[in-house]
Amino acid sequence: MTDHAPLPPFPAGFHWGTSSSAYQVEGAAAEDGKGVSIWDTFVRRPDAVRGDQTGDVACDHYHRYPEDIELMADLGVTAYRFSTAWTRVQPDGSGAANPAGLAFYDRLVDALLDKGITPFPTLFHWDLPQALEDRDGWLARDTAYRFAEYAALVADRLADRVEHWITLNEPFIHLAYGYAFGVHAPGRALMTGAIPVAHHQLLAHGLAVSALRSAGAARVLIANNLTPVWAASSAPRDQAAADAYDALHNRLFMDPILLGRYPDLAAYGSGPDLGGTVRDGDLAVIAAPLDGLGVNYYNPTRVAAPGPEHGLPFQDVPIDGVPRSAFDWPVVPDGLREVLLGLRERYGSALPPVYITENGTSVDDKVVAGRVADSERIAFLDGHIRALAQAMAAGVDVRGYLTWTLMDNFEWAEGFTQRFGLVYVDHRTQTRTPKDSYYWLRDRLAELRHG
Ligand code: FCB
Repeated sequence: MTDHAPLPPFPAGFHWGTSSSAYQVEGAAAEDGKGVSIWDTFVRRPDAVRGDQTGDVACDHYHRYPEDIELMADLGVTAYRFSTAWTRVQPDGSGAANPAGLAFYDRLVDALLDKGITPFPTLFHWDLPQALEDRDGWLARDTAYRFAEYAALVADRLADRVEHWITLNEPFIHLAYGYAFGVHAPGRALMTGAIPVAHHQLLAHGLAVSALRSAGAARVLIANNLTPVWAASSAPRDQAAADAYDALHNRLFMDPILLGRYPDLAAYGSGPDLGGTVRDGDLAVIAAPLDGLGVNYYNPTRVAAPGPEHGLPFQDVPIDGVPRSAFDWPVVPDGLREVLLGLRERYGSALPPVYITENGTSVDDKVVAGRVADSERIAFLDGHIRALAQAMAAGVDVRGYLTWTLMDNFEWAEGFTQRFGLVYVDHRTQTRTPKDSYYWLRDRLAELRHG
């Protein structure tokens, strides 16, 4: 089978789209009353980001969104996942809304609808207001209540036109990178001391579900980063390490939502109340019924038992014999099928319809004579879409596939060095050049429409 073979059929109404986040694309970091977020602060820490780059301008999507929506429309996608910047809406993370901030998302939504593109806003993609971080960020229970208020302000303004809402993006990655290892904002390195951040994000999610519904939101989702976890061997020590990693990365953010309980975190020295963080009634709030689960899938993870004095109950080991992205992430399309079948097996009828809310790869792209020949990305997309079709044929209810990402953008601690886009962005001139993968996907989507 070649990369240009037609894709298998997908149900009518299946959402094909691209995904992005505010800090990574918008720029306009201090415009129209926007407040300071933890990413605005973190990027100014020496050496926090490769080359000391910042998202101050990013892709200038704040001003260029009409051009970017044209690119989406020409690609033939019918969905766009973006995030709203909390600090545009509430510059200090609480109180009245900033009208200019809400007006931007209002314009963006109208421009999308005008082109027949369904908006999928995410309310939190890691850019917490600095004013809330100054009050202990997600270590503070109060942040969950602030989030629900903010969610209500956005939905009050947009829910008349926006049907699908995503509360949080990847609470696991925010916990791990932001609060446990400190390589993302807010740059705290608390290791297992960061675990309360999981509960407060989940509580924020649950409170926001109800706030969003009261404001008229029709469908509410969360976007979790999920990974198949492979033990390095069948030795019991490696199996136990895999189980411990799976509990932290996957089940910590799925079980409370779909089963109303936390997984066993004893390997991390944590009891069922996460060190006194969980209060009576919290799990019922967190387990509020959902209309969809967003799955962000990039790669599987292979783990072994840790060496002595490692500090964590697992250690990462390489996955050999597979292609690797420019980021050095292993490329394993079948891992997507494995994640989806694993979800169905574990959660059964409690699993809501699934939307793939991120999936993509970074390539060391170059523009040569006006063209970007990114055959690795084409192979990645082709393989993952076929794996998705297999999971659906096996009975998993999947409603959409939104690739990461439309255009190269600010890749967190890597700055602009990792390119994940279907469209190449020259970050000095803001010129957008569609890559071969853009034309490949455009052709496949046209075939699906007419097939
Ligand atoms: C995900 C993030 C997204 C992007 C991709 C590459 O973990 O949600 O913002 O950085 O990775």
